[in-house]
Amino acid sequence: QIPQITILGSLNTDLVAYVPHHPLPGETLTATSFLTSPGGKGSNQAVACAKLSRPRSLSSTPSAHVSMVGAVGSDSNGDLLLSNLTNYGIDSTLVSKLPGKKTGIAMIVVEAETGQNRIIISGEANHEVDESYVTKGGWLEKTDMLIMQLEIPMGTVLKAVEEAKGKGVDVLLNPAPAKKMPEGVYKGLKHLVVNETEAAILGGVEERELDTIQGLERVGKGFVERGVENFIATLGGRGVYYLTRDGRSGLVEAEKGVKVVDTTGAGDTFVGRYALDAAAAKKEGNKEFDIEGAVRRANKAAAVTVQREGAAASIPWRDEVE
Ligand code: RIB
Ligand code: NA
Repeated sequence: QIPQITILGSLNTDLVAYVPHHPLPGETLTATSFLTSPGGKGSNQAVACAKLSRPRSLSSTPSAHVSMVGAVGSDSNGDLLLSNLTNYGIDSTLVSKLPGKKTGIAMIVVEAETGQNRIIISGEANHEVDESYVTKGGWLEKTDMLIMQLEIPMGTVLKAVEEAKGKGVDVLLNPAPAKKMPEGVYKGLKHLVVNETEAAILGGVEERELDTIQGLERVGKGFVERGVENFIATLGGRGVYYLTRDGRSGLVEAEKGVKVVDTTGAGDTFVGRYALDAAAAKKEGNKEFDIEGAVRRANKAAAVTVQREGAAASIPWRDEVE
């Protein structure tokens, strides 16, 4: 029996311009290229779970069932996002199409030299994902692992954490974009996956405190004391740090020789690949979750994503990583 992973989160249409450098105030810049593609942290993480659960062919057997819960508008962008999900074998029955609303938009500028992005989001239909989505269709009862981010209303995320805890569902939270959260939420988190900015904001420290292993350990332990079981910090070129409640910790180095083209979707790929291992462990009663192995495999998958343009489209299938 394979695990059921459900993603409660955002769907966006990404409008991506590739530029020689980021524009200065008042500057008009000509992009070297432009693309419109499926994105949104929720949707990307669902795509990552689905693509990394199987080799490229959809007739292959996946290692997890993947479902998405969220909302799009009644426009062509929404239709494209829905068909994108189904193309990857993701159950999108619980993604509502809201009359009179627009689909979420992300305006992304990617700098050629570094592959680094800057993103402006207009949430649109994602703002309408209220607490009723947590109980809609009874999906939580059938879920082994719930994955969330912070591109939908905070109240919905908090309600879902609460309900999931009551039902014994493991929760992975990727608090992006970072916002302060009520203290109680950490007790409900099996996995917390953050980047440096998020770790600093939520951990209440300066980003430079994360420059050393000692600093990372201090911040990680802070989250564990607040109730998190597995703390994971993705550190870009420095690799990934993890720390668990049962005292395991380590720094997994970044993949070498990677030519960064577009980092968009890398964090989402990491979350999706990690979640596949975590969900499989959960199905086995969480006795021996090999967190270091999960982090390694996730790191490797994310290294493929940064070498390609776009978000969902740049996420590799399982056979493209192995
Ligand atoms: O994590 C990358 C995603 O963040 C993009 O696809 C964009 O839609 C924003 O939500
Ligand atoms: Na990418």
